[in-house]
Amino acid sequence: MMSRQIPVGPADELAPGQRKLAFVDGRSIVIFNIEGDLHAIENACPHNGASLAGGQLDGHLLRCPAHGLRFNVVTGCMPGMDGLNLDKIPVRNVGGTLELTVDEASPLQCHAQQCGTR
Ligand code: FES
Repeated sequence: MMSRQIPVGPADELAPGQRKLAFVDGRSIVIFNIEGDLHAIENACPHNGASLAGGQLDGHLLRCPAHGLRFNVVTGCMPGMDGLNLDKIPVRNVGGTLELTVDEASPLQCHAQQCGTR
């Protein structure tokens, strides 16, 4: 699958404990700096699509503001439950610039992939 690197601003503007929103190809992505580690997720709760950008963070657990489900932003998983996962997006600090790696998946490719895993 093809992927692209997208610069989304200076890394030093995202201090530990902070978060920021980035918009790439019409997608909304939240980037967290948790104790110096960067994590980026799709800004849509896997439960019902609510924005997660304002969710309360407790360690690595992010609480969805809509119905309170909690997700680990490191693994993307819900603690103690299978099923709903955050969509994580690779993020790096490249020479002081935050860089997201975004897949170039067309809807057709996504569909084919899903079929292949069944
Ligand atoms: S939309 Fe996030 S918990 Fe329901």
